[in-house]
Formats: sequence, C-alpha cells, structure tokens
Amino acid sequence: MAWLVTGGAGYIGAHVVDAMRQAGEDVVVLDDLSTGDAARIPGVDLVVGSVGDAGLLTRLLAGRAVEGVVHVAAKKQVEESVRDPLLYYRENVAGLVTLLEAVTAAGVPSFVFSSSAAVYGAPDVDLVTEATDCRPVNPYGETKLVGERVVEALARATGLRYAHLRYFNVAGCARPELADRGRSNLVPMVFEQLVAGRPPRVFGDDHPTPDGTCVRDFVHVADVASAHVAVAQALRDGRTAALTANIGRGEGVSVREVVEIIRAVTGTADAPWAEPVVEPRRAGDPPRVVASADLLRDRLGWRARHDVEEMVRSAWAGWGSPALPGPAAGESDPVRAGGGRATPVP
Ligand code: WQD
Repeated sequence: MAWLVTGGAGYIGAHVVDAMRQAGEDVVVLDDLSTGDAARIPGVDLVVGSVGDAGLLTRLLAGRAVEGVVHVAAKKQVEESVRDPLLYYRENVAGLVTLLEAVTAAGVPSFVFSSSAAVYGAPDVDLVTEATDCRPVNPYGETKLVGERVVEALARATGLRYAHLRYFNVAGCARPELADRGRSNLVPMVFEQLVAGRPPRVFGDDHPTPDGTCVRDFVHVADVASAHVAVAQALRDGRTAALTANIGRGEGVSVREVVEIIRAVTGTADAPWAEPVVEPRRAGDPPRVVASADLLRDRLGWRARHDVEEMVRSAWAGWGSPALPGPAAGESDPVRAGGGRATPVP
C-alpha cells in the first residue's frame, strides 16, 4: 500500500516524501511541477499533473493501492492571494474538492490536510491553541479554513479519517538539495538582501512586542515532515480518526532575533552595512502568532526537535553558504564579510 503525496516535489512536500520513505512507507507523488522540482525526489514514483484533473486522479488511484493521501499541493503566498483570490479559491478549494471526489470514489480511508496558522488571522492571545477562534485575514488563510471544513463535512458523510496540520512559520531544510527556493518568507528574504550586499529589512519595530518587531513561531521543515509521518501512521493504525493540530515549537522568536541569528550564521554580525533597516509595518501583519504545540505532543508524542539556529544554518547551506560581497555599490563599509561554512542540520 502507498501514500499519495500531492505537491511532493515542492519544498515542504519533498521533505514529507523523504520522511515517509525513511519511515518505510511507500509513496507516490502527484505534482504539476509549477513550483516543484522532480530532482528533489529522485527514484520516487512521480505522476505529473494537477489535483484538479479528475481523470488523472481516477487513473492514478485505480492503478495503485493507495491507503492515504497527504495533500500538500496548494498556493501559499499571502500577498498573491490578496491580488488574485480566485486563483487561490480555484487551486486550494476547487482543487481539493476534485481530489476528495476521487479519494471517495476510490475508497481511500485516510487524508492528511496541509493547513496553516493563517487560519487564525491575527489572534490576540499569547499562545494559539487549536480552540482559538479562526478569523483569517487574507484569502490564503480563508481557503485553508474552508478546506478544513470541506474535509470535515466529507468525514461526517463517509467516515474518512483525517488530520488537519496547521503549519506555523516553516524554515530550514533537511539537506541542501531540498532547500526552499521561494523568496516570500523572512529567512530567504533576508538572505536575498545580504547576498545582494543590502541590509536586511524589518517591517515595523513599533509593534506591541518586547523588541517592537513581530513575533512568530518558527518550525524546522524536517520537524513538519516528521509530524506528517506520525499523523499518517496514526490514521492508518486507527489511533486517531479526526485531528486538528498546530505544527510549531510553542516558542516565539522576534523578527529582529531571527535577523541577528542570520547575521551570525552568514558572518555579517560585525558588518555595519548589514545592520537591518526598519521599514513601515507590512499591512495585515499580526504582532504575535505563536503556537501551543501541546495537542500533538499529548495525542501522538510528537515534538519539534530543531531550534531556530539549526533552521537558519541549514537554510543557508541550502543557499550554498556564499561568501557575501560586502556592501552594495554606494554603501560604505570596508569590512568584507566572510561567508563561513554553515554546518548542515545534525
Ligand atoms: C514573518 C515576519 C514580516 C520579511 C506566514 C505565511 C505562511 C504561513 C505562516 C504556512 C512578518 C517580517 C518578513 C522581511 C520582515 N505558514 N518580515 N522582513 O507573515 O508570518 O506568514 O505565516 O502556511 O508561511 O502566511 O511569514 O515570513 O512572510 O513574515 O520584517 O524581509 O517577518 O513582516 O512579521 P508570515 P513571513
């Protein structure tokens, strides 16, 4: 029996595939390669196509004994979702419905849904629990919340066993070749600035937080992947049938703290040109979003094991730990920052 991982050639999906295989699970991947890369998953049974292709799904599930689906494929850029909400509802909701129709017709019993902390919106709580009100503030978060509701409605109708995993801020990589190639989150955005010889940008330092910058719950993608293995096996073994869980560390780290860790790892801590510049707040940024990670620990004994420095070091290794150029033209700094060799995640 195999698990179907949609989006399994993407940054998070490929880590899930890697972890599932290391746990002895057979895997087949469906990925349209719009952002995924087949080179991330050598030797894996890869079907190239979209979750919105009903005929392809029917053929895929008819040709293989699939015991469960891990649905990672989705659009996940907040700003893009605001600009193009129909794209997000088409991909993240209509695509999910098409997938679930095929899953139901084929009698696949288990479904792991990649959800997001974005379902909570801007929660005004110290720690976000799974019982915290879900008030998404952008179409991306809305589509993830609607997706959860669709899965739950189907489970009530058919007995589908499911788990929603609400990812907080994912970073790092298990191996350089699996690194995130996106440029839409804090860690890669700071790398991008430094590689260009420009200072990191901090969006607002007047938030109601200890150092004025936003606080987030960063979780290593290898830990996110191990949570998927634990949950998939629990669904298969009947140890759980309906689960909604945060995937985080339960610890808040501020933007400024992350920037300083990045400067230490990239060898620019003493480079004046790499001092972060504060820019205006980014619209829609909640000051603090930090998970309570207790539920998955209590239910399945899962805990995140990597800290933020390991996330940054592994992510930097995924960028090839380049020697940094020093200040961009027009910036003044004689210090030529060394790149330092980042050590991969232990
Ligand atoms: C983090 C903080 C920025 C870049 C994510 C995504 C998604 C979701 C979790 C899964 C914010 C600040 C950023 C920069 C900065 N997970 N920042 N300078 O906004 O928490 O959203 O939530 O679905 O990954 O929705 O993540 O990495 O964009 O920003 O100051 O150059 O870093 O303002 O406060 P965010 P992010």
